[in-house]
Amino acid sequence: MSKKKKALITGITGQDGSYLAEYLLELGYEVHGIIRRVALEDQAHRMWRIRDVQDKLILHCGALESYPSIFNIICEIKPDECYHLAAQSFVTYSFEDEFSTFNININGTHYLLAAIKNLCPECRFYFAASSEMFGRAEEVPQREITRFHPRSPYGISKVAGFDLTRNYREAYNSFAVSGILFNHESPRRGFEFVTRKITSSAAKIKLGLADKLFLGNLDAKRDWGHSREYVKIMRTMLNTSSPEDYVIGTGETHSVREFVELAFSEMDLDYRKYVEIDSKLFRPAEVDLLVADTTKAKKELGWDYKVTFQELVIEMVKSDYDFFKKHN
Ligand code: GDD
Repeated sequence: MSKKKKALITGITGQDGSYLAEYLLELGYEVHGIIRRVALEDQAHRMWRIRDVQDKLILHCGALESYPSIFNIICEIKPDECYHLAAQSFVTYSFEDEFSTFNININGTHYLLAAIKNLCPECRFYFAASSEMFGRAEEVPQREITRFHPRSPYGISKVAGFDLTRNYREAYNSFAVSGILFNHESPRRGFEFVTRKITSSAAKIKLGLADKLFLGNLDAKRDWGHSREYVKIMRTMLNTSSPEDYVIGTGETHSVREFVELAFSEMDLDYRKYVEIDSKLFRPAEVDLLVADTTKAKKELGWDYKVTFQELVIEMVKSDYDFFKKHN
């Protein structure tokens, strides 16, 4: 029997990490994850997404801010594939704490790349880059060669991670790639992101548990896909013959307003009666319009995305409705 492939996922307790862990287990991988020590002390809040598969995973406590910590974990596991998904990923917060965003997102990526190069250079490395790197984009839709113009400390940190990943590929021959993923959501999305904030509020309002939803810029447009589908392409990217970066998205864009309207109407509510604009929720610099050109991924990876915007919104709002009804 052939040896099981070993995968290491950073950010395994998050939305993408949990879906990816399930997918890799299904494919027969030995799945390792790095978690923070505090997660163990607060499992109900921090580990709910991996609860159903936790006994099949091998979890390691570690800190991305510490090279010795990362070095020891890589030394112990010597993974075949490493999926680096962990990050301070909330754009709004990156304006409040630029320094820790840079520390985790840039140094954390660098430590992993360096440890892999020194300890297991055959390990294939996936970096979770982001469409936020395009920022004030010069062209619509955005593709791999569109110039980056990040508009937040988060976006800047992802450009640095992208450049580090590419430089390890070019300088040391590492199989290191970046997935430039556009926004991807699901019922496992954190409540601070706009989609989940909207679907959870619409469900609570319907159930009489809330009466208002405060939002910022309703005119921003995003290319929203489903996280469960997006994680599969990460694995494909690490199992091609040559390391390349890819843009992944749906190719459709919708405004925050359209998302709100649809989520509320699914609950038979008129959003205009409940949504209020709070100027404090606007960002110091906004990314107005994102939409992916996935020609390269379609051609080279067979990227074939099928979940519609409507299906995504409805799945999220229904899931929140069922959850709050049960736990009310
Ligand atoms: N979070 C939030 N909260 N966003 C709001 C709100 C609000 O109350 N009101 C309006 N928005 C607008 C934001 O200004 C932004 O234009 C849009 O909704 C989406 O915001 P988020 O859901 O926070 O996501 P994001 O686009 O900033 O970033 C997400 O996608 C990136 C990929 O492009 C994150 O998941 C990033 O980590 C990811 O890289």
